[in-house]
Amino acid sequence: MIITIDGPAAAGKGTLAGALAEKYKLAYFDTGMVYRAVGLQMVLSGADLQDQTKATEFAKKLTFPEMMKLSAHKDFRSDIGGQAASIVSAIPDVRSALLTMQQNFALNPVFADGTKANGAVYDGRDTGTVVCPDADLKIFITASSEVRAKRRFDEFSAKGINTTYEKVLSDMKERDERDSKRSAAPLKPADDAVIIDTSSLGIKEVLAKVCSLIDALK
Ligand code: DC
Repeated sequence: MIITIDGPAAAGKGTLAGALAEKYKLAYFDTGMVYRAVGLQMVLSGADLQDQTKATEFAKKLTFPEMMKLSAHKDFRSDIGGQAASIVSAIPDVRSALLTMQQNFALNPVFADGTKANGAVYDGRDTGTVVCPDADLKIFITASSEVRAKRRFDEFSAKGINTTYEKVLSDMKERDERDSKRSAAPLKPADDAVIIDTSSLGIKEVLAKVCSLIDALK
């Protein structure tokens, strides 16, 4: 079983994907990590984030273990990492260099310890439209920018990251704009995706809704 969950930043994709992975014993691929890994390598090497050749070079060389190693860096999940990921992810050659690695995950979904999973759950922006167009279930989750910025601000505060709600909101709007206006795989629901607005829904309600869709597949 392959499930895709797409949507803008802080819509609740990761929380939902994690809960589904646990309930249905699915391996989880957070596809934003591939772009964060390339973006962070650009930042660490001091490259201009618009340098398409350099970004494509990093993308072509990226391996799963290297991505996991980079994910321990303090800026991997910070706003610096998020903005860098969003910029490099708009480069078509970067996207095509990272596609096979993402698609291969569904061929033999395994957990971190190597044991076999019942399938895979992906989260990202284009997992239902490009990465896994034949997925068994496609979800597109969204929420208002204000609700998403508040969630992200609370996450940053809990981690001790010094920022303001206003800065998080303006960065998020900038990133949403770039992710949805780019020519390569812009953020949009697949034609056959189920769209869920989580602005006024808690994780339990969203999970119940998605579980009923999964259970109906069987
Ligand atoms: O989900 P995230 O915040 O970790 O994603 C970081 C950036 O990566 C996001 O701004 C857009 C890009 N991304 C993408 O273009 N396609 C994906 N499938 C996942 C993320």
